Amino acid sequence: MSGKRRPNKKTPKNKSNREWVNRHINDPFVKKAQGQGYRSRAVFKLDEINKQDKLLKKGILVADLGSAPGGWSQYIVRNYPDIEVIALDLLEMEPLQGVEFIQGDFTEASTIERVMNLTQGRKFDLVISDIAPNITGVKDVDNARFEVVLDSILYFCEQNLKSEGRLLVKLFEGGAAQRYRGQTKKMFQKNAVRKPSASRPGSKELYFLSTTIKATLFDN
Ligand SMILES: C[S@@+](CC[C@H](N)C(=O)[O-])C[C@H]1O[C@@H](n2cnc3c(N)ncnc32)[C@H](O)[C@@H]1O
Repeated sequence: MSGKRRPNKKTPKNKSNREWVNRHINDPFVKKAQGQGYRSRAVFKLDEINKQDKLLKKGILVADLGSAPGGWSQYIVRNYPDIEVIALDLLEMEPLQGVEFIQGDFTEASTIERVMNLTQGRKFDLVISDIAPNITGVKDVDNARFEVVLDSILYFCEQNLKSEGRLLVKLFEGGAAQRYRGQTKKMFQKNAVRKPSASRPGSKELYFLSTTIKATLFDN
């Protein structure tokens, strides 16, 4: 017998890919996003949280971290044309009118410098992060990588978020999320969990909203 794999063999991986495709095709939020010309179903998560928490207001400056393919930025500039958005992602993003895009790794200082070159000392009113790091499948590695991302977000906020500003971050239940929640408790006055209906009920994803900086965490 040759060592070659039969292409149609039902391995757990291609079974889960197939399940993902089926779920995606039948997902009402995917259909709704396509119907409204949005780049991602994630817009409905932001929409629901925004309606509940009034995140977006006329004239504010927003950082959209992990922005590609651009659904959240698109939602903001479509519904609030006078909001200024700086979006950032590792991947390329199709341009959007009213959005300044930076391609780079958010955990690298050189990427943050590029953001600061754009803001020229102005601070953000709102930082939103939908960052989902690539998963290796090795729990400790993934956890450690996500901790670096979350620390980078908090460090960025210490330096670039207005003291009365707000921070919305996607988390995945687990060690890194627990640590993050402990840190935000020290750093922000108010913290709340959000699980919008477009976030799949069985998933570990949740959103964490923090408001008003009360203390710093890092040595600057
Ligand atoms: C779920 S997607 C964001 C979807 C987006 N909110 C939308 O509505 O279209 C997560 C993004 O995080 C980005 N990402 C992951 N790690 C990153 C990092 N270290 N720096 C910047 N972006 C990162 C990925 O490239 C991916 O595009």
